Amino acid sequence: MNNLIIVENPLIKRDITILRDKNTPYELFRIALNRIGYSIAIELSKSLKLTQFTVTTPLEETNGYRLKDSIILIPVLRAGLAMVQSFIELIPDASVGHIGLQRNETTLQPVEYYFKTPSHLPESKVIIIDPMLATGGSASYAIRYLKQKGAANVSLACLIAAPFGVNKITSEHPDVQIYTAALDRELNSSGYILPGLGDAGDRTFGTF
Ligand code: PRP
Ligand code: URA
Repeated sequence: MNNLIIVENPLIKRDITILRDKNTPYELFRIALNRIGYSIAIELSKSLKLTQFTVTTPLEETNGYRLKDSIILIPVLRAGLAMVQSFIELIPDASVGHIGLQRNETTLQPVEYYFKTPSHLPESKVIIIDPMLATGGSASYAIRYLKQKGAANVSLACLIAAPFGVNKITSEHPDVQIYTAALDRELNSSGYILPGLGDAGDRTFGTF
């Protein structure tokens, strides 16, 4: 699993506990999910390339830096919406595309219902944002779609990943780096991550 980066710090551990707790109301769930998004975005930003230029301070010239590549954020609906805001705040000039996928509850296969992505995918760093990597079907579908549209530099930002999903992405898309705040134990027979946090979309939006 050498394309997997587990992002850990005490704030993430505290916030993941809030998210796992079945008694956490959705207002606090959203806030904690967005807060973890900052830590993951900062870790992922270590892979971004810089261009150097000269900046003039009030006193003299010195080295300055700007991001070399344009950044495209792709939240996977719905749960990805709760994490994208933290990325936007840290990378305010990023474009944002949206991919709507919903797992069929019986087959566990992703069903697409919305795609709107910027045209400059080929020359951009593309960051897919989806809190849950369970069977990996949704993430793999999203990556395949983006590659068909020309994306060549794709990373996946998650919150909780299951080994099954990580293995699927690793074998089908070995070029894609996965960032997650936790690697959980396994999937249950309904495709939910254990111990997990339940249905991320429902818990984010209060659709019970
Ligand atoms: C969740 C989650 C992922 C997907 C992960 O979305 O946000 O997109 O499941 O499962 P997988 O790895 O097995 O494909 P869901 O389909 O429940 O839609 P929602 O966000 O609208 O609730
Ligand atoms: N999607 C979720 O929201 N949670 C899981 O545990 C698995 C897929």
